[in-house]
Amino acid sequence: MSCVVVVGTQWGDEGKGKVVDLLTRHADVVVRFQGGNNAGHTLVVGPDKFILHLIPSGILHAEKKCLIGNGVVVDLEVLQKEILTLQDRGIAVSPKNLAISEKAHLIMPYHKHLDLAREAQKGKASIGTTGRGIGPCYEDKVARIGIRVIDLLDPKVFAEKVETSLKEKNFIFEHLLKVPTIDPKEILKVYLPLAEFIRPYVTDVSIMIDQALTGNKNILFEGAQGTHLDIDHGTYPFVTSSNPVAGSVCHGSGVGPTKIQSVVGIVKAYTTRVGAGPFPTELTDETGLALREKGGEYGATTGRPRRCGWLDAVVLKDSARLNGLTHLAVTKLDVLSGQKKIKICTGYSYNTQTLTSMPAQLKTLEACRPVYEEWEGWSEPIEGIRKRENLPQTTQNYLKRIEELVKVPIGIISVGPDREATLFQDNPFS
Ligand code: IMP
Repeated sequence: MSCVVVVGTQWGDEGKGKVVDLLTRHADVVVRFQGGNNAGHTLVVGPDKFILHLIPSGILHAEKKCLIGNGVVVDLEVLQKEILTLQDRGIAVSPKNLAISEKAHLIMPYHKHLDLAREAQKGKASIGTTGRGIGPCYEDKVARIGIRVIDLLDPKVFAEKVETSLKEKNFIFEHLLKVPTIDPKEILKVYLPLAEFIRPYVTDVSIMIDQALTGNKNILFEGAQGTHLDIDHGTYPFVTSSNPVAGSVCHGSGVGPTKIQSVVGIVKAYTTRVGAGPFPTELTDETGLALREKGGEYGATTGRPRRCGWLDAVVLKDSARLNGLTHLAVTKLDVLSGQKKIKICTGYSYNTQTLTSMPAQLKTLEACRPVYEEWEGWSEPIEGIRKRENLPQTTQNYLKRIEELVKVPIGIISVGPDREATLFQDNPFS
């Protein structure tokens, strides 16, 4: 029995989907524990490409169980669409292999409306959210006026909760944000049929996890977003509204911390960020553009171009500490092929000091300048290589330096989008 957690170490989009998909081979159960459909995991299986936003990537393996934990915020219209699309493409999705926590909170149409209207009102000061209603849904959860999956299953409770919530929201829409209000009847029309669609999938995920552990099963916890988008530990306020750090597995799925063995941190071989917020190693020149094009750095959820830059070891070291990383998985290493010189940021220069962890004060972080080490690049393609020792010496040097700086061993290296383009050094399940 093993519990392995996969988290993003940067600002999301590190290529977690592929690593989760690979590790799923060794797992019996795959669980999502935070975030919502602001995530987008692209999986490439032979000629097929799948983009999943809510359903754990493990769904492509028919015999695995996929669970959506209580910490996830669920847009049921999106979930239904995802289930039906997968079924249309011949992937088995049923209550036999997919379950959703009765305690998960629902993203309601008014959450999306609020997210978009607030962002529009903020103008230049906007966060650059995905517009999926994530923040407003978590706000309602904490304000104790949220609507959980279990509430939807009782039409009377659901109708009352929608009515109460909309009284406040419509006031804000009309008087503060000056956008159209929402009629509760319209919501009931859409959601009551959705309740019947989702009912067979609804369960107590914490109990399912406990039963799996008692049955000696392997469990994989699939993080969404990245450590530096964490509401507590990220570059606040340019963050998401959940906790993508590994500790969030416990409250987001209902499992105790003593059950977790390994935490794998996914590291993209360079850095990207989508949306606004500080990004010390951002490259606004041709190198940044080249990384974006070669790496296909466009959001899987919103299609927005991602900002690109050099690898930032300050970001990674903070992630190693915040998540208790036991392994690193380096992805998209092939994208760096052809760069004559490759830089790694080892600290931030701020006034007369060199900072080695991210400052909490946004203004300080914005004033930081990266301190770089420069490494020789490699020109040869590496997609076909399957052993670390067969990589060009300069590639090996780069990897070794990452391990030295972050003080966590690299267990997995991805050199291309296909499942096969992977160097599997150390299995976190073993
Ligand atoms: P929200 O999660 O939609 O509220 O967006 C808050 C911030 O997190 C924005 O900068 C988004 O671009 C960013 N974000 C949210 N989800 C992801 C993700 O899955 N990958 C990368 N960035 C994300």
